[in-house]
Amino acid sequence: MPSLPAVKIIEDRQALALNWPDGKIHRYHGIWLRDNGQDSSSRDPNNGQKKFSVADLTLDLEIVSAKVADNRLQIEFSDSTETWLDLEWLKQHHYDRTEHPKLINQALVTWDGELDPSTVTGRYSLITQSKPALAEWLKWIAVYGFAILKDVSDQPGKLFDVVDLFGFVRETNYGRLFEVRSEANPVNLAYTRDGLDPHTDNPYRDPVPTLQILHCIENDANGGESVVVDGFTCANILGQESPAHFDLLRRHSASFEYQGDGTSSLHACRPIIEVSPEGQLLAVRVNNRSSGPLTGVPYENVPEFYAAHAHFAEITRRPELAVQFRLAQGELFIVDNTRVLHGRREYSETGSRWFQGAYADKDSLQSTIRMIEGNNR
Ligand code: FE2
Repeated sequence: MPSLPAVKIIEDRQALALNWPDGKIHRYHGIWLRDNGQDSSSRDPNNGQKKFSVADLTLDLEIVSAKVADNRLQIEFSDSTETWLDLEWLKQHHYDRTEHPKLINQALVTWDGELDPSTVTGRYSLITQSKPALAEWLKWIAVYGFAILKDVSDQPGKLFDVVDLFGFVRETNYGRLFEVRSEANPVNLAYTRDGLDPHTDNPYRDPVPTLQILHCIENDANGGESVVVDGFTCANILGQESPAHFDLLRRHSASFEYQGDGTSSLHACRPIIEVSPEGQLLAVRVNNRSSGPLTGVPYENVPEFYAAHAHFAEITRRPELAVQFRLAQGELFIVDNTRVLHGRREYSETGSRWFQGAYADKDSLQSTIRMIEGNNR
């Protein structure tokens, strides 16, 4: 039996406070409670969707009565409407906080080169047989921004089976799947034997693909190790070393473009460091190969913007921030492309290195975690 809160109407009946037995007090406005009412005239009982618009709400709504019964908060309002809200739901969704959100969402774990990649390495046979094991692997992607999967098989196209475990392929002009191996006249510098600086993919898209999967079909060349860098760690370091540089990359848009295959002309203007209105990091965009002309920065800020951009790029190259691993045939890794940069070391003329790549998106991944864990409301 969960312990129940005491209810007190406050602020001239505009709000109420729930006093929980553990001492926590959460205040809720009447209009917020009305807007989130869970009765069947407020929300469709089958799909949970709201049945009214914010424009229909009474803005000076007062709370006439409020009581706790049947694990619900039951409320009558001054416009003669009534509703109820589940108490546990109210606890999970309270907004009465004094602390400001931190730059980095506290649900995330940021890391540097000390991270042992085995921390985020799962096995295909396990995640295909156990939903909790699948949720654990997906949560590594959500929390660390990347994960590795062993024993997938070296069958071309097998990465689609992995995407099917949590979501949907994002098809692009590169196809549903793209081949990453050296080519004579590559449309993209990724298709050479050269090393690639850590980067995020496709910043010239709007929106960017939020997940990338790279599956190793063959890897017997010398070199070609995979490298990942936590872009949020890099942004945090930039902010500590130069708040002014951080601010420039946050406040102004850079431009990114791609027309390498002759059939596409992709262009997007977005900040290199994207921060929410509440001050929390949302995304980084790091890709010198796709960098376009800077036209959105005021004339007087351009020299300092270059200094800030160069500073951030230098941080992303610091060896102590990079986690390096070598994918064996039949293994894959997946990155949160809004956060974690990926790259590779150069590889030799002899031997072959053949990866297949695909894009997908984080919303389905998060949804799959919630569905497995039963937190779907
Ligand atoms: Fe890439």
